[in-house]
Amino acid sequence: TSLRDEASKKDILIGSGAINPTYLNDLEFAAVLANQFNSLSPENEMKWTFINPTKGHYNWDTIDRLVDFAEANNIVVKGHGLISSCCNPDFLLNITQPAAFYAAMKTHFEAIMHRYDSKINRWDVVTEALKTQGGGLNNNTFSQVLGPGYIADAFRIARAAGPDARLFINENLVESLPGKRQELYNLVSKLVAEGVPIDGVALQMHVTEVAPEPGVIAEMVNSYKTLGLEVSIAEMDVHTLDNALETDIYGAVISEALDAGITDISFWGFTDKHAYTWVPGAQPLMFDQSYKPKSEFYATHAALTNF
Ligand code: G3I
Repeated sequence: TSLRDEASKKDILIGSGAINPTYLNDLEFAAVLANQFNSLSPENEMKWTFINPTKGHYNWDTIDRLVDFAEANNIVVKGHGLISSCCNPDFLLNITQPAAFYAAMKTHFEAIMHRYDSKINRWDVVTEALKTQGGGLNNNTFSQVLGPGYIADAFRIARAAGPDARLFINENLVESLPGKRQELYNLVSKLVAEGVPIDGVALQMHVTEVAPEPGVIAEMVNSYKTLGLEVSIAEMDVHTLDNALETDIYGAVISEALDAGITDISFWGFTDKHAYTWVPGAQPLMFDQSYKPKSEFYATHAALTNF
């Protein structure tokens, strides 16, 4: 059976992120994607400068292609990168006046969320709000112009533009850095206390050396549940260069996530093929360069089957 067969039986989303629509030209890639996953998200193509490089101009074709592929294969799409820590166009970077910057953000969100209104029902609204190692907000163009309130602004604009969509804050390394984990919790609980419309926390889960301490995923799921929020895994990959260790990490993380009640799990790609992973050479994914399932795949499959 495939990952998606096992997941779908249990109402679990099992997805691949990092799908650049041009990869679909590779028919083997497209076949594995359609066979194994019931969710997908783009890599960079929905980030601001890629989808909206100049004022008023949107590159819809790229994302339309992804959405059409998903629809044809009964796959749901997650929107990624409304606000991300990279990839902002000059026309935005040149706006220094807060009201104009806010208006640009609203226009951008509305254009994208309205276009995919019936096709995309969950979004990473803000990605990497915090500094990589923690210790404050990322000093990005949004916080520079709008101040720390840009996060609340973004969620409010997103809720108004897509009232039925589920809205996530997407963050890296919180599963492995206790200080940053607490910092994200403080940030999110403050948003909730202020009535900001946020539905969940998306853990990136780019594992570099060691798996998160056992219990950490469950602890996060429970603490966010008390705030009324969902936790998902959004971009898992494991780069240890030690195949046996990677396999153990895949199995342990997926089992713990499922046991904790997580129903939305995505990986940051699925093949180690160099052109298709952001860490070429690290062999971080579940299929090798010729699309053969690796032991990481079987560990994930077993976790889904045994859940
Ligand atoms: O398209 C330009 C090209 O025109 C230019 O010549 C070239 C020169 O550097 O850059 C190209 O853009 C690159 C872009 O990928 C598209 O290929 C950027 O430099 C490069 O930084 C960017 O990397 C992406 C990265 O996010 C940016 O932060 C990775 O592909 C992408 O996998 C990665 O994904 C992120 C998630 O969005 C958020 N979580 C972490 C994850 C991994 O870093």
